Amino acid sequence: MDVMQAAITDLEGIKALLKANHADNVKEEDRADGFVTTNITDEQLGRLITAENGVTIAKENDTVMAFAFEAPWKFWMEWPMFKYMTEILEEYSFGDTLLTTENTYQYGPICLDKTVRGTGLFEKVFDFSLAMMKDRYPVMATFINQINGRSYAAHTRKAGMTEVGKFDFNGNHYYMMACDTVRSAK
Ligand SMILES: CC(C)(COP(=O)(O)OP(=O)(O)OC[C@H]1O[C@@H](n2cnc3c(N)ncnc32)[C@H](O)[C@@H]1OP(=O)(O)O)[C@@H](O)C(=O)NCCC(=O)NCCS
Repeated sequence: MDVMQAAITDLEGIKALLKANHADNVKEEDRADGFVTTNITDEQLGRLITAENGVTIAKENDTVMAFAFEAPWKFWMEWPMFKYMTEILEEYSFGDTLLTTENTYQYGPICLDKTVRGTGLFEKVFDFSLAMMKDRYPVMATFINQINGRSYAAHTRKAGMTEVGKFDFNGNHYYMMACDTVRSAK
């Protein structure tokens, strides 16, 4: 499957995949396989694709089967949750590195269509997304909902991410996560 940077023509495909995997639409019995909680308008998604070059996708026969978002914190400031994360970011360290809005960017959400999970595509999309930002930021940061066991397992075991702490927002419990953008022996 081809992994690439998204173009504006991919917007509808990304939206459809996001909608199908949003917590509002995922059935209770499918929650264990993950869900996405971030909402994004067409205007914000269009800006993320074109102005930020901030969407990685995987496509099969012109259908978007996976996506990952990656952008500087200033892009995410319109979301209360991300704004809150910028306010507490400096309470967390990754190794010797204190996390700041200058030395990190925000990755995620990432989402794979159900039919392509567990195939190794996750690592490919993740690595492509990381490579998109490695020249601008030494460290990537994000959150994972503490009840999203599949996402936590995939990111810690297969993507080399480290839990650097926990935080709560809006009654939900999250892990603060980080990793080097260039693989090293940290
Ligand atoms: C999260 C996601 C991107 C991971 O990609 P994936 O292809 O499913 O990941 P993999 O199957 O390669 O790896 C997941 C691992 O977690 C394990 N796992 C599955 N459910 C689990 C659970 N509830 N708790 C703990 N581990 C779990 C799997 O067994 C697998 O490990 P294994 O390969 O050693 O058996 C994908 O599942 C997805 O898009 N889910 C819906 C959206 C989502 O949750 N996005 C993340 C938001 S932060």
